[in-house]
Amino acid sequence: MTIKEVQDEIIRLKKEKDICILAHSYQAREILEIADFTGDSYALSKMAKTAPNKTVIMCGVRFMAETVKMLSPEKKVILSSPVAGCPMAEQLDKELILQMKEMYPDYTVVAYINTTAELKTVCDVCVTSSSAVQIVKQLESKNILFIPDCNLGAFVAKQVPEKNIKLVQGGCPVHAAVTRKHAEQAKALHPNAELLVHPECRPEVTELADYVGSTSGIMNYAIKSDKKEFIIGTENSIAEHLQYQCPDKKFYLLSKSLLCENMKSTTLVDVLNCCKGEGGEEIELSEETIKEACKCIDVMIALGG
Ligand code: 13P
Ligand code: SF4
Repeated sequence: MTIKEVQDEIIRLKKEKDICILAHSYQAREILEIADFTGDSYALSKMAKTAPNKTVIMCGVRFMAETVKMLSPEKKVILSSPVAGCPMAEQLDKELILQMKEMYPDYTVVAYINTTAELKTVCDVCVTSSSAVQIVKQLESKNILFIPDCNLGAFVAKQVPEKNIKLVQGGCPVHAAVTRKHAEQAKALHPNAELLVHPECRPEVTELADYVGSTSGIMNYAIKSDKKEFIIGTENSIAEHLQYQCPDKKFYLLSKSLLCENMKSTTLVDVLNCCKGEGGEEIELSEETIKEACKCIDVMIALGG
């Protein structure tokens, strides 16, 4: 079968079976083309709530599929690639957070959405990379325990100096592998380019950037900008997608190693198999987990996140 034939069959099956396909922007182009909604994890979590379909296929990583299930427990939610985890989401466990809460009882626990549903059950509020600054600013408590990404946490702390933000040692192994040297080399090689980076990058990298934002934030910035050249400091697929969208502009990679193997584990044929009811993994969460984990998502939504 050609790519086009597989895509046509997916489109036919999703209509026939009332399926909604969500794809994170890090997915391959042929998957984005057949998705009903694409975007960053914030946009996808909101879409999940409004999509009218009975079944949702999440082309992304496990915590994203769990978020869809939490927000729409009545829907059948399929993770297109069962091996697609996010190492950051699994770095901390519930017991450790419970111990930290005992040690710091007057701290509000802010969880990046890149956490398991289980971990969210013991957190106070959830944030995404696009809503973190805005939400932390609005919290009543001055004392914040930010988990699990110390780079995103440090970025928020810089933007919200009035808060006392405690960080834990965790983060995205893909973005955290980029160093100041990579940024300096890329800037030297492309002196006319703006550097756009994800806040999961280290502070030594974000402080050299012209723009810091979520995957959608980076894409929107580059699309709207009058500038013609950009160095992209997030998963390399974003540079590729932008190059198709803006053929008159130039997009360079900040580092060749910015590749998320988990995000890339979904293939178009995996999506086809999920539509046939043959592949993927149905996300199952207990009623209790959904009820407790949803509390911190509800606070995020109430605060405009
Ligand atoms: P976004 O919130 O920008 O989609 O980021 C999710 C992610 O996993 C980035 O590595
Ligand atoms: Fe997780 Fe990093 Fe991959 Fe994003 S890029 S899904 S944070 S491992």
